[in-house]
Amino acid sequence: MNAAGDSRPLAVVTGASAGIGAVFARRLAARGYDLLLVARRADRLQQLAAELQRAHGVHAGALAADLASDAGLHAVEQRLASAANLELLVNNAGFGTMGRFFRADVHGQDQMHRLHVLATVRLCHAALVNLTARNRGGIINVSSVAAFLQSPGSVSYCATKTWMNVFTDGLYQELRSLNSAVKVQALCPGYTYSEFHDVAGFDRSKVPSAMWLSAESVVEEALRAWDRGVLYCVPGWRYKLIVALLRLLPAAVLRAVAVRTARRLGR
Ligand SMILES: NC(=O)c1ccc[n+]([C@@H]2O[C@H](COP(=O)([O-])OP(=O)(O)OC[C@H]3O[C@@H](n4cnc5c(N)ncnc54)[C@H](OP(=O)(O)O)[C@@H]3O)[C@@H](O)[C@H]2O)c1
Repeated sequence: MNAAGDSRPLAVVTGASAGIGAVFARRLAARGYDLLLVARRADRLQQLAAELQRAHGVHAGALAADLASDAGLHAVEQRLASAANLELLVNNAGFGTMGRFFRADVHGQDQMHRLHVLATVRLCHAALVNLTARNRGGIINVSSVAAFLQSPGSVSYCATKTWMNVFTDGLYQELRSLNSAVKVQALCPGYTYSEFHDVAGFDRSKVPSAMWLSAESVVEEALRAWDRGVLYCVPGWRYKLIVALLRLLPAAVLRAVAVRTARRLGR
């Protein structure tokens, strides 16, 4: 039951103030979920919450929290642990940086590992204690196609997203081994229009237009895969093909190609 006494399921979406997270919130509200929206920009969250309540008649709350901080994580953990109608956690908050690891500001690298790794551990744990006790619902961890390769200039990003895939795969196996009804998904989008590339300072014109996805199409595919209980969701046929090839090629070949490409592009 939610605060209004209704029995709507609750979805908690991190990074809901923009991009893929905001689209998840809209699509889940349309499916009849109550929403708890999490990110740092409170004004954006409040605006979106009001829009969802108006458009879909669901209850939507905003929780401003920096998930790279202990205090922010604690606040979200408490909500995940205590919600009797928790059904879905979308761990989506994330960001990218540009440039060689040792030339980048170490604070940004530290924040990325906290957000992509530590926040995922802490929020998955809080959500799974609740969900496994009720044997329902699950978690979507928003990873990236970058999880399937290592790339000079994006060392921490690729490493943290690779970790996210491996972690989600491990959770999937634990849950299946217990015959649990709780589901997990690693969502691995390619280049997607959002604020991500503005934050990272990445020039979008460097990527051919055919390689760009809309946040709407990414979320639609993710939710279709969710309904089918698919572990890895790679939206778009081009990226499915690329990931299939990446999985076939020996690591030494991938490494050599990445090094050559980085030399050529001066990354
Ligand atoms: N766009 C792509 O091409 C692409 C491709 C593959 C994977 N992804 C992944 O998709 C996810 C969503 O990215 P997006 O493309 O939608 O980017 P976006 O438009 O920049 O949105 C990122 C979201 O994360 C939130 N966030 C960032 N740092 C945070 C922190 N410390 N605490 C709480 N919230 C934080 C931001 O909100 P505030 O600034 O308000 O906190 C924002 O809501 C990320 O995990 C990203 O790695 C994106």
